Amino acid sequence: MSAEFPVARLRRLRRTAALRRMTASTRLHPGDLILPVFVKEGIAEPAPVGSMPGVVQHTRDSVRKAAHEAAQAGVGGLILFGVPAVKDARGSGADDPEGIVQLALGDVLSEVGDALVVMTDTCLDEFTDHGHCGILTDDGEVDNDATLERYAAAAVAQARAGSQMIAPSGMMDGQVGAIRAALDAEGFEQLPILAYSVKYASGFYGPFRDAAECAPQFGDRSSYQQDPAGSAGEALREVRLDLAEGADAVMVKPAMPYLDILRQIRDAVDVPVAAYQVSGEYAMIEAAAANGWIDRERVIMESLTAIRRAGADMILTYWATEVARGLPA
Ligand code: PBG
Repeated sequence: MSAEFPVARLRRLRRTAALRRMTASTRLHPGDLILPVFVKEGIAEPAPVGSMPGVVQHTRDSVRKAAHEAAQAGVGGLILFGVPAVKDARGSGADDPEGIVQLALGDVLSEVGDALVVMTDTCLDEFTDHGHCGILTDDGEVDNDATLERYAAAAVAQARAGSQMIAPSGMMDGQVGAIRAALDAEGFEQLPILAYSVKYASGFYGPFRDAAECAPQFGDRSSYQQDPAGSAGEALREVRLDLAEGADAVMVKPAMPYLDILRQIRDAVDVPVAAYQVSGEYAMIEAAAANGWIDRERVIMESLTAIRRAGADMILTYWATEVARGLPA
């Protein structure tokens, strides 16, 4: 029986899985995914991260295996975070040629070569004893310009160790320009920079600070990371400045709480845009799934589809390998 008035039949294209698949406008591909990995200096066995079930702090050996598995699954890239055995005020481990990131880079590169893009996070918080992303002044402020020199040194050390993409995440003003100049001066003109341009001071980073052992020992990151209530114009300004300073691609972080910002950035620029589905986004879904409150696989795919739909070309996600394995190559 037909209705008394004309009914638009949107359900026609939803009837079968084949129709839905053929008419889909958002698709995920393994090559769009980037796997963040933590490697810790001086441990004999991988150490599980309590607040991130399924994520570990790797040994130099197990990180090779994780890189191999990611490459096998077709994951597009991997980003290395180092946890040094010893920390100090200036974050010396960040630019030490024997520092954990530099050593792990060599290990991972010998394992995967060019099969995926081996990237490095460039920041100081994993390496400083106070846990801030920069050098401190005597009164405990983060000193922007003194920090730039440290970032430049860290980026050059990573470049020398073979990093294939430098990803500065510290939110100091001028960081992209300082790193670009230092890389160029050392002959690394061809090494791209993925700038964490839009990075909010977010509660969603909580579990990461367990994984990277980098919680600030006093205060918080609100004087350098963006305020969640700040304007979209501020986010755009960060992006434009980073591009003017030489960024090759930009990032929005966290992802799901900032999809509106991600869409606006995607529409405003013509470089690749990445989004970081951060540790807290991961932990929420894992925790709810462990309680039987949500369907884990379904929610993972829905979250990644939403991030992609909002405009991300690439997505950093701790599920990269698992998800890539389930996607058509
Ligand atoms: C800083 C950095 C952080 C993350 C990536 N790079 C932590 C912070 O800013 O406190 C967070 C990533 C996540 O939560 O998954 N080096």
